[in-house]
Amino acid sequence: MKRIGLLTSGGDAPGMNAAIRAVVRTAIYFGLEVYGIERGYAGLIEDSMMPMNMRSVSDIVHRGGTMLRTARCLEMLTEEGQKKAVDTLNRRGIEGLVVIGGDGSFRGAKCLTENYGIPTIGIPGTIDNDLQYTDYTLGFDTAVNTCIEVINKLRDTMNSHERISVVEVMGRSCGDIALYAGITSGAEIIVVPEIPFDMDDIVMRINRSRASGKHSNIIVVAEGVTSAEAFAKELQEVTTHSVRSTTIGHIQRGGSPSMADRMLAAQFGNKAVRLLKDGIGNRVVGIHKNEIIDMDIIEAVSMKKQFNFELYETLQMISM
Ligand code: F6P
Repeated sequence: MKRIGLLTSGGDAPGMNAAIRAVVRTAIYFGLEVYGIERGYAGLIEDSMMPMNMRSVSDIVHRGGTMLRTARCLEMLTEEGQKKAVDTLNRRGIEGLVVIGGDGSFRGAKCLTENYGIPTIGIPGTIDNDLQYTDYTLGFDTAVNTCIEVINKLRDTMNSHERISVVEVMGRSCGDIALYAGITSGAEIIVVPEIPFDMDDIVMRINRSRASGKHSNIIVVAEGVTSAEAFAKELQEVTTHSVRSTTIGHIQRGGSPSMADRMLAAQFGNKAVRLLKDGIGNRVVGIHKNEIIDMDIIEAVSMKKQFNFELYETLQMISM
């Protein structure tokens, strides 16, 4: 293999730039040429790309977002779009592709692999942590740290006013951001799509905490259940304590990546290129039990995300 392509696709995630850097530099180390494709699959279809060198990726390891920009590309779901993408790759002499993105982006890569024989390697880049085959996705740690920072601040003012704070976090249909942010910020309650909630039980828990001397409460609601605003309204109807809602929103997607995300980016990017240069495609890289792993892309995208009920129970036990 002489020339590879690289793109970021779907929602951006902190650490994508660090992964781009790792891919480009590892590729150059092994004597491969790298083309950076702009705006994900849209750029591949439109042939919008540039050759990258060592200096193209200088000064980005600490930056959020993605220097290649990203998009959600509906055309890639069509046969016509896929054919255009393959034509671009052939015309440009690109023999392998690294795709940094989430579930949807991996499906695009799987299609190129399965239907057109293009070797692809997926790097999991999404704040949602909604891929089962890997313990962590790139950007999740930074996003959770952002939530913690917001909740720390909310805690101050909620305590002063003896209020209940309902905080909405992202994650699409996955409750991991709520679960991890909830445990690590000391929230009393988390509401996630994987577990049905009972408002009477929530009110009972709040009252019990107040009776034991607490002055405020934090409830983290995953966006996949409902909005903070709607939840706060419903709660206010059944409690005498004052309730306020906050939606963290896209702040979770930005910012300088944490150490954990930069480390994952370095390892994922490096592993992806090592596989491709050996002619191995059709894989995704990930981390499992602290080991960098790779797995068949078709198998990886067909795995259903499992919620960590043990962590949820831990939260229930220590959040009184
Ligand atoms: O997949 C990442 C994510 O941030 C989800 O958590 C969220 O539901 C969605 O993207 C938001 O998408 P957009 O940036 O298109 O509003």
